[in-house]
Amino acid sequence: MEDLEKIREDFIRESASIDSLIKFNNFKAKYLGKKGLITEKLKRLSSLPKSERRDAGRAINELKSFIEQELESLKQRVTELEIQKKLAKETLDITVPGRYIPPGHIHPVTQVLEEIIEVFVSMGFSVEEGPEVELDYYNFEALNIPKDHPARDMQDTFYVKVSGSNKMESDVVLRTHTSPVQIRGMLKRKPPLKFIAPGKVYRCDADVSHTPMFHQVEGLMVGEDITFSHLKGVLERFIHALFGPETPVRFRPSYFPFTEPSAEVDIGCILCKGQGCRVCKETGWLEVLGAGMVHPKVFEAVGYDIERYTGFAFGMGVERLTMLKFGIDDIRLFFENDLRFLRQF
Ligand code: PHE
Repeated sequence: MEDLEKIREDFIRESASIDSLIKFNNFKAKYLGKKGLITEKLKRLSSLPKSERRDAGRAINELKSFIEQELESLKQRVTELEIQKKLAKETLDITVPGRYIPPGHIHPVTQVLEEIIEVFVSMGFSVEEGPEVELDYYNFEALNIPKDHPARDMQDTFYVKVSGSNKMESDVVLRTHTSPVQIRGMLKRKPPLKFIAPGKVYRCDADVSHTPMFHQVEGLMVGEDITFSHLKGVLERFIHALFGPETPVRFRPSYFPFTEPSAEVDIGCILCKGQGCRVCKETGWLEVLGAGMVHPKVFEAVGYDIERYTGFAFGMGVERLTMLKFGIDDIRLFFENDLRFLRQF
């Protein structure tokens, strides 16, 4: 019994100096561990004479549960203490240099696309969008390119199978140009109108100057007295904004089923300044745009009065313009995601 009293006093005294989890665990083991003081006492019970066992057992167990309770609250105090110690050590060194996160930037094709849009918006054009998965009707038929028209060969088309639909496989395509947005835009509104339609287009074609996906910007202006002069004025102004006011512009007769007359627009070679080089194939000129006056068949397809309205349309390839602007000679570089290339712009 005296022993037990001493154990209790020691325990109370020692517990005051427990201020870390390590000390706590040792302290707990000293009393309740396999070879702990209390455990040893319980083991030795059986060597006592029978008459003393009951009282001794009760006293030891009473002391044991006292110690267990004390340890419980001691553990809470110690845990709290540890947290306080950690927080006290935690300091913020504002002189440590920051970790550098390299900033990203806009892809060169997107840069030029945004610049093109800005030029036309500044001339009062609005911006239209259309679907990339398009009906044959909008991509070809309504643009005066009937099923067996040889002009379809100019654009190698991806056809789209539409499961669970009664559409024929040949009825749905990945749009081969942004011209179907001319039709959708005209059906949505009434003249006078002027808008551009930027976006992705798809052709089954791949080499140094062709990728299966590329970007175009379409333009359309329709009104009562729109003439070829307006087309020339708008496009010249656009080219001078993009390539500089000194850039020569020329219109060459060409053919598109949805414009009549049609033109191919060239600019003086910006690499050799018209002297003749590899890029312009010694001609001094670079082709950058297709354009023309809207064909009456196209107006008929959208129900516009062909006696009253005239208009012009144009379409340009954004990758090609970007290549010319930055002197890039392989279109595939745009899509390889090589930072050594992309970081240069
Ligand atoms: N859609 C034509 C093409 O992709 C370009 C174009 C658009 C030509 C509008 C004339 C008028 O080649």
